Amino acid sequence: MSNVIAVEPQPVHQVETMRRAKAAGIDLSRLPRHVAVIMDGNGRWARSSNKPRIEGHRAGIKSVREIVRTCRRLEIPFLTLYAFSAENWKRPGSEINALMILLCNFLRREIREMKENNIRLGTIGRIHELPFAVQKALDYARRETAQGEKMLLSLALSYGGRVEIVDAVKKAIQAVREHQLTVDEINPDRFSEFLDTAEMPDPDLLIRTSGEMRISNFLLWQIAYAEIWITPVLWPDFREEHLFEALKDFQSRQRRFGRVDIDGAI
Ligand code: IPE
Ligand code: IPE
Ligand code: MG
Repeated sequence: MSNVIAVEPQPVHQVETMRRAKAAGIDLSRLPRHVAVIMDGNGRWARSSNKPRIEGHRAGIKSVREIVRTCRRLEIPFLTLYAFSAENWKRPGSEINALMILLCNFLRREIREMKENNIRLGTIGRIHELPFAVQKALDYARRETAQGEKMLLSLALSYGGRVEIVDAVKKAIQAVREHQLTVDEINPDRFSEFLDTAEMPDPDLLIRTSGEMRISNFLLWQIAYAEIWITPVLWPDFREEHLFEALKDFQSRQRRFGRVDIDGAI
């Protein structure tokens, strides 16, 4: 007797991750669509074991890999990672160079797994400010993963929220000049189309590691109604269990978007 299997079975790793998430108390039907992460604390992680800062960045890549995998297995469609801010150019040249090399190596190593898992790589930020070799590596990774339709993994690089908004204003002005738009037609929805994040919904959940209670110029426009979750855990120590904690906490929040709650009790 032959059974026709209509739905492709979920890979065993995915089933396992989902089982662990459920065991951690997560409702898989109410996950955020877009998770954004300020990956902070690499330097402090390194200092705590007397290592150079770059070792912290290197260790942080393991966390990136784990969080990308877990989000993909939970079928979260948008993940945005703050990897290098516009202000991070003020760091010593040696640290910047090391970060750029780590980024290129990461891209080279991860392309295959991204393709296998239907992940598309994207970027936000002023990519043209990055070293040429990094731009080329990003271009290649973007092209190679362009078919991935299950998750958009966006890396924020040379990214600053204020500059993004200013650049968007300039693009809107240009569109008005070219008669593609009138001034009266500009509203928050139309304006969002000029931001680097035009193709994604706003983040539902913003995670920051290392305990800092600030936004550091990340997605200023887009996080208007994001739920914010901050953990003292340093990024290189951040694992699936911490992501589960964040997701569980997210699900316990009541998102009101300015309204009264559902039964008007509050
Ligand atoms: C975050 O870790 C990574 C980047 C900003 C590139 P940090 O390098 O900021 O680590 P801390 O905050 O100094 O511990
Ligand atoms: C924010 O971390 C930028 C990234 C995580 C890439 P920083 O370490 O640069 O932020 P501040 O300086 O503590 O605000
Ligand atoms: Mg930091």
